[in-house]
Amino acid sequence: MMPAALSEATPLLSVRDLTVRFRSGRETVTAIDRVSFDVPRGRVLGLVGESGSGKSVTALALMRLLSPDMAEIAGEVRFDGRDLVALPEGEMRRVRGRHLSMIFQEPMTSLNPIASIGNQICEPLRLHLGLGRKAARDRAAELLAMVAIPEPRRRLDQYPHELSGGMRQRVVIAMAIACEPRLIIADEPTTALDVTTQAQILDLLRDLQSRLGMAIVMITHDLGVVAEFADHVQVMYAGRGVERAAVRDVFGHPRHPYTGGLLRCIPDFDGDQDRLVGIDGTVPSLTNLPPGCAYAPRCERAQDDCRIVVPDLEAVAPAHRAACFHPLEFAREVSP
Ligand SMILES: Nc1ncnc2c1ncn2[C@@H]1O[C@H](COP(=O)(O)OP(=O)(O)OP(=O)(O)O)[C@@H](O)[C@H]1O
Ligand SMILES: [Mg+2]
Repeated sequence: MMPAALSEATPLLSVRDLTVRFRSGRETVTAIDRVSFDVPRGRVLGLVGESGSGKSVTALALMRLLSPDMAEIAGEVRFDGRDLVALPEGEMRRVRGRHLSMIFQEPMTSLNPIASIGNQICEPLRLHLGLGRKAARDRAAELLAMVAIPEPRRRLDQYPHELSGGMRQRVVIAMAIACEPRLIIADEPTTALDVTTQAQILDLLRDLQSRLGMAIVMITHDLGVVAEFADHVQVMYAGRGVERAAVRDVFGHPRHPYTGGLLRCIPDFDGDQDRLVGIDGTVPSLTNLPPGCAYAPRCERAQDDCRIVVPDLEAVAPAHRAACFHPLEFAREVSP
């Protein structure tokens, strides 16, 4: 029998070679190409990459929210021991909202404009936890208090349009944590909000994450958010994972030239405001990817081999992977 310590060490979420192909007419587009990563219990994984790199498609595939008519999914998404890719839809419905929930960028994606806040928060409580009307309403008010919404009882009878954008996102968070899921997938949860509200929502999520011991997949194009929030990072480029490691390793010793470029894009990452450097060029179209490494056309380190073969995500150091034939040198920290 497997010792308890070993099963504890099994990641909560283990994604292997996840591939998503969209069909349109006779064409198929590979939006996600053999993406793999793990999320340990109670930890935060940051999923970063430029627009179009496949972050949202990854999230929707994990939640099984892509219509099978449009998208073909391959690979394995092992969540608490079960492969979600192969799970019958009826069982998936029992997982979604109960053990695994999602927060979208735009709160109105998750909220019904013509249902009261109270009814919307009560729904998962009644459906998944079988709470009665009164118990669900009491719990809904508690949840609104947990996400720091003032006068929670009164808010239960209000409608989404009566709330500000920041308050609506708090309601969405209350719905997402209602059944105390083991994992939340948050897709740019603060991008639609103003800067002050962004910071408050991130603080709230971090506080709830540590209090409830949830794991989070935090999708963002903002490396600052990752640095503050995540334990591990997966960097995506053109639908592929290009670097994966603990946050301190990715920020301290980026090995993939794309990650190095992203870090140089942060204005004051190294305290030097003048060094705002972008990455030249644009993300290639998925329908027209170059034959080798998708980043090669923008990469200053690219050589002939990069233009022929797609590099695998391989170990460059213990617990640090990069998909690159000519990775950046390990930047040795100056000892004090
Ligand atoms: N339903 C669909 N049919 C065809 N292609 C799609 C579909 N949904 C997404 N794609 C394509 O998949 C690719 C990845 O899109 P995705 O939305 O995951 O990017 P993203 O990393 O979330 O970008 P952003 O930062 O802008 O949110 C894009 O090229 C997009 O056009
Ligand atoms: Mg997206």
